[in-house]
This record gives sequence, C-alpha cells and structure tokens, in this order.
Amino acid sequence: MKRARDMHPSAAQHVQEVRMAVKAEGVAKAGEGRRREQAQYWVYFDGEFKRYGDARLGLMTHALHYGTGVFEGLRAYWNAEHEQLFILKPREHYERMHRSARVLMLKIPLSVDELCAITVELVRKNGFRQDSYIRPIAFKSSEEIGVRLHNLNDSFAIYVTPFGSYVDIERGIRCMVSSWRRIDDNVAPARAKITGIYVNSALAKTEAMENGFDEAIMLSQDGHVCEGSAENLFIVRANRVFTPPAQDNILEGITRENVIELLRTELGVEVVERSIDRSELYVADEVFLCGTGAQIAPVIEVDHRAIGSGQVGPIAARLQALYFDIVRGRNPKYADWLTPVY
Ligand SMILES: Cc1ncc(COP(=O)(O)O)c(C=O)c1O
Repeated sequence: MKRARDMHPSAAQHVQEVRMAVKAEGVAKAGEGRRREQAQYWVYFDGEFKRYGDARLGLMTHALHYGTGVFEGLRAYWNAEHEQLFILKPREHYERMHRSARVLMLKIPLSVDELCAITVELVRKNGFRQDSYIRPIAFKSSEEIGVRLHNLNDSFAIYVTPFGSYVDIERGIRCMVSSWRRIDDNVAPARAKITGIYVNSALAKTEAMENGFDEAIMLSQDGHVCEGSAENLFIVRANRVFTPPAQDNILEGITRENVIELLRTELGVEVVERSIDRSELYVADEVFLCGTGAQIAPVIEVDHRAIGSGQVGPIAARLQALYFDIVRGRNPKYADWLTPVY
C-alpha cells in the first residue's frame, strides 16, 4: 500500500481523514464501553447505595453552577500477596472533609466513623481487586438560581473507581512555574477542598501540559512557591528539606503530613516549614511533589532547568520506596495508616 506521503495531496488528505475517523470511532467505542461499565458501579448517594447509572442530578443543581461543593480523594492499594485492598488514612480524609464543609456551611449528616464504615462497605460492594480511588463529595443540591451558601439543601455522595498512576513518578516529572497564581485565602480558602477552587488548578494544569510539561507549580499572590495543581511541594537543600507552610495558601495535604513524618522518623532528615522563593526551585538539590493522586512524584526539571543531577534524587527515591511499602501493607510498623476492605 502507498504511504500517504507518496500519494497525490487530495488522496493523502482523504486517507488521513479516514484514519482519524477510524481512530475517533475507536476512542468513542472505548468511551462507550467504559461508560457502560461505570453505570454498574455502586455509589453511595444521600443515604442509599445505588448504581452509578441510577444516581441522577438535575441541570440546575447549585454546585454545578457555583462550585459550592467540597470533596476528598482517597486511594486504596491492592496487595496481591495478601489479596487485600487497603484504604489509606480514611479518617484523616473525612476529618478534613468535615473541616472543608464548615467553611462552605455544608452539613454532612454522618460522623467520621460512619463515613469510614460506609466507605469500606461501598468499596467491598464494588468488589474491586486493584488500586482504586475514592471520591466523596458534599454539595449544595438545591435546583435553583441564586449565588449564596444559606437556605439550600445539601447532598452527599461517594464514588469509587479503579485507578492507576496520575503522573509518571518513576522517571520523574518536568514542571513549569505557572502564569496562574494560587488563589488567596481571602478570595477563596485553598485549605478547604472546595470544588469551585479547582478552576485555579485546572487552568494551571492545562497550561503546563499544553506547553509540554507534566505539571504546574503555582506561586502565591506574593510570589512564593505554593504547590502543584493537586500536590504539595518539597525541596531539598544541603540535606535539609523545606516545604511551604499552611499560611502560604496550600491545601493542608494528608500525604504532606505523612511525608514529613517519614522524613523525620525514618530518613532522619530535618524538615522545615517556611516560605520558598521561586529561584530556590532552580538551585535545589531535589524537588518533589506529593499527594493522594500523584503519590511521591520527583521533579527532575523546572522551567527547563535540570534539578540536581536531572535524575530522581536520593531522598525522593528512598521516600518513594518507603511510602509504597507502607501503603501496600508491607511495613507492619505503619499498619495503622491502613484500613483493610476485605
Ligand atoms: C491543591 C492540592 N494540593 C495538595 C494536594 C495533596 O493533598 P493530599 O495529600 O491530601 O491528597 C491535593 C490533593 O488532594 C490538592 O488538590
């Protein structure tokens, strides 16, 4: 068969169009298959377990228009040897969710203990035997017009799905400092995981990816390093580790807390919470991001400047190995970080 470049331009264009149509059809079919599978997942929605396909929301749902929801993201790790799925730190996630809900004047009608128990039951009901992601969301569900937080109904749901890596954490990732600044506490509080605030992250993430990077690093309004689009940030300088403090408009990450604990107790490294200048990223020995989605993501380049040797650094590598042993239930010392599902 003739290759497109050996053909008459109009024939080549036709071949190209056919190829694109076939590819689009393949993508659409795969999407359709996934949608059908997803429709069968069990979800928890306003007090009941139901199929995803039966959980419906109206077009005028308040949170869809005004971003008036709070959410969480939890991971569950599959341990094939023990045939067990471990949910990582569910209590801490639901405690944070209750705090976020307070900011948005949302009522979650369940205690942290109840939320943990429902989550285990939901994951078990789905029967997933692979790494999974859990997404609880509480939101203003009244179907009416009017920007406000008061006099509205609240809903609560939990969704679970199989889930792999979010970014390439083995080779390390390339980042750019975003042209989008992190939202300020007095504009909308980043410490609460509010759905509407994620427009800020989405703008930064897409800008980074469309410029050929893997992830964005956002600066605060006063120009200090804040965090990635969905990850907290650490730098290493002369064997000391630094991370921005809570008052620099970060989300107070659960992985960040875990990482600080591991660095201090297992790696014997000093960790200091202080503001970080942009140029410190360029001169750091190591930079890494962490979060439920990204896990431990070493950064090997920022704004086209290699970090350290341009390879995954030794502290990030040790931390990664330690972290994955713990979350997969292979380190008994940290068994209390995990809640088994089966
Ligand atoms: C903006 C932002 N920062 C940091 C994190 C990391 O938080 P955690 O470790 O609790 O997942 C996330 C992810 O939830 C996030 O969305």
